[in-house]
Amino acid sequence: MTTEQIKDALKAVKYPGFSRDIVSFGLVKDVKLEGKQAEVTIQIQTTDAKIPEEIYLNCQDALNTLDDSITYRVTVDVKTPPQASGGGAQSAEGGGKTGIPGVKSIIAVASGKGGVGKSTVTSNLAIALSKQGLKVGICDCDLYGPSIAHMFGAGDRQPSSNAQDQIIPIKAHGITLMSMGFLLSPDSPVIVRGPLATRYIQQFLRQVEWGELDVLLLDLPPGTGDIQLTIVQTVALDGSLIVTTPQEIALIDARKAISMFSKVNVTIHGLIENMAYFQCDHGERYQIFGKGGGREEAKRLKIPFLAEIPIDPTTCEAGDVGTPIALANPNKSAPAEAFTKAAEGLMQKMKG
Ligand SMILES: Nc1ncnc2c1ncn2[C@@H]1O[C@H](COP(=O)(O)OP(=O)(O)OP(=O)(O)O)[C@@H](O)[C@H]1O
Ligand SMILES: [Mg+2]
Repeated sequence: MTTEQIKDALKAVKYPGFSRDIVSFGLVKDVKLEGKQAEVTIQIQTTDAKIPEEIYLNCQDALNTLDDSITYRVTVDVKTPPQASGGGAQSAEGGGKTGIPGVKSIIAVASGKGGVGKSTVTSNLAIALSKQGLKVGICDCDLYGPSIAHMFGAGDRQPSSNAQDQIIPIKAHGITLMSMGFLLSPDSPVIVRGPLATRYIQQFLRQVEWGELDVLLLDLPPGTGDIQLTIVQTVALDGSLIVTTPQEIALIDARKAISMFSKVNVTIHGLIENMAYFQCDHGERYQIFGKGGGREEAKRLKIPFLAEIPIDPTTCEAGDVGTPIALANPNKSAPAEAFTKAAEGLMQKMKG
């Protein structure tokens, strides 16, 4: 038996609510083996007492599959995240996570599955919220596939910095924006992984001069990986929004995202069903990806259902040319109306 074999066994233990394991998240701090005694130390940051307990029990289960002549001792070392400072939002967990001074509400937009329209929904929702009189920002947390700069027609702009070395975000169509898209040329691949990705995200949130905002939307990358973990552990989220398309394959991943937020006590303000239907010029509706999957799922999970967004070629084109449809076609089209409805629904749920 070696310490490597012990670490391998611990790879079966997932962080509660996430698809990643505790080893790849870097939470296993130490593994010692002396004679017939093994000691495993795990270090996590949370204010939720259920998480260390679940990790502890799952580690025991994983280690029980190994050589039973050895005694395994597991210690889960829990650190409380830094206290909230400044006028940021407080989390449902009781203020262990930090807000952003000047920002009233921080809302994460997530989906689980990729390509369901998170960035399209985030962009248009931002415009719809700003039309309701709110000051809105978007932090594009997708480091590998940043879309926000392009969707706002600002891909060629570069942020400068202020006297305090903070990055001054880009303002486009009245929305305050930060995205990896402003820092890279469109063709350069992003090769940031693990701890570096986490550092970029912290920088985007903490070292950007966000100013006074009513709401900052975080456009998350797909999945439930380390960027999502960093955000839910360190940011005082007001809540989250789930974007899905109606088909089962997208709903499966949406459920994973919902369960991730529930495990860390982040309120789900609502679910938005994108690509809900296609309406032809004669007014007939076609449910291309199935009927009402998102609405039914929201009902089943007791989550507010905020809106259904139709499949619409102009929505796609508008994103490509950098003028979100909610701005290009205000309230005159079904998608723009749907985004207004989603914005109104979200404003009722927001605490800030
Ligand atoms: N309602 C819609 N009607 C037509 N096209 C849409 C709609 N929603 C999104 N799209 C298009 O689908 C593509 C994917 O959308 P988007 O980039 O917003 O998804 P995403 O979930 O952010 O993807 P990723 O997981 O890669 O971040 C884009 O080309 C977008 O313009
Ligand atoms: Mg995206």
